[in-house]
Amino acid sequence: MNAPQGFAPPAIETKLPKVGTTIFTVMSTLATESNAVNLGQGFPDFDCDPRLVDAVATAMRSGLNQYPPMAGVPALRQAVADKIATAYQARYDWNTEITITAGATQAIFTAILAIVRPGDEVIVIEPVYDSYVPNIELAGGKAVTVAMTAEFRIPWPAVREAVTARTRAIMVNSPHNPSGTILRDADLRELESIVVEHGLFVISDEVYEHMVYDGEPHQSVSRYPLLASRAFVVSSFGKTFHVTGWKVGYCAAPAPLTAEFRKVHQFNVFTVNTPVQHGMAAYMADPAPWRQLPAFYQRKRDLFRAGLSKTRFRLLPAEGTYFQLVDYEAISDLSEFEFAKWLTAEIGVAAIPLSAFYETPVENRIVRFCFAKTDETLNLALERLARL
Ligand SMILES: Cc1ncc(COP(=O)(O)O)c(C=O)c1O
Repeated sequence: MNAPQGFAPPAIETKLPKVGTTIFTVMSTLATESNAVNLGQGFPDFDCDPRLVDAVATAMRSGLNQYPPMAGVPALRQAVADKIATAYQARYDWNTEITITAGATQAIFTAILAIVRPGDEVIVIEPVYDSYVPNIELAGGKAVTVAMTAEFRIPWPAVREAVTARTRAIMVNSPHNPSGTILRDADLRELESIVVEHGLFVISDEVYEHMVYDGEPHQSVSRYPLLASRAFVVSSFGKTFHVTGWKVGYCAAPAPLTAEFRKVHQFNVFTVNTPVQHGMAAYMADPAPWRQLPAFYQRKRDLFRAGLSKTRFRLLPAEGTYFQLVDYEAISDLSEFEFAKWLTAEIGVAAIPLSAFYETPVENRIVRFCFAKTDETLNLALERLARL
């Protein structure tokens, strides 16, 4: 729509000059155009448990369709507090320490807005999930990136060196998207020693908490009392229950942190849709769905890795998440973006270039596949990739 002559609106000075169309949109469009199997998108191509849909439908039919309490439906907050206690032996008060959010995305942004002041620095680890840096910048802060090692581990001495008088928080993500690595006890102890020494907050993105394989425990920040006392721990029902489109998640944080978090939350989304919260609460009475998740995805990971091991891709370890990184150095010397486009258009399988997760462009000859797909989808992709 054009403004009438002489009445143009003021020019917008963008707050996010570096942000454009995401690689996920670009690759998904190309995948559709090329009729490719889309292993780029980070979400399941199968449906959730019908019992969950029934529970939400029952809530809607029972008239649970008006605003819930600002912090979330009590039954769901209780279910979350109980799940955290069972899984990590950490007791959060459901009433004052758990907030239901519009996905992990809103929880992360809200935590950042609650603590980051203009000029503050926040340490993020590269490769980094795409929302963190724009979120920090919108809060007036500055993201300070520390690159993971070649094995996708966090170099703690480098993190320590990156701390300045302006540092406000460190953001961690385990299991890690896109690398599929996990933080272990020694990592959490390093993190603890840095944040306690320098008086920092922690934002811990644990959306893949129930996708950790080979019998390893998920080292949630909530297990470590010193860390937990200064941390916003964020998770996503979308990932855990195969309903990414519902956009419901939560933030667990000590009461004083939660109080600030909710000040932002109430004037941002205010609250999250009612019937989904009631449905989730009823569904979570049975812990089996989240308890069985590691075995469910480990089988898919193993199927996918077994097929890929017959190609010239070099497989990187996949300790958690539903992502598999592969090194294509033996196949092509194209850049990651060009290779991902070629793979989509010519081989018929879409992937995401690892370089998309860096602020500073780097090339590792690595792309990311998502294995949260039906066996049929995975087998079709493997058939096509077998040509490599
Ligand atoms: C590391 C990470 N954090 C946060 C999110 C966002 O989760 P949600 O869909 O619950 O907002 C994702 C989704 O892909 C993710 O991979």
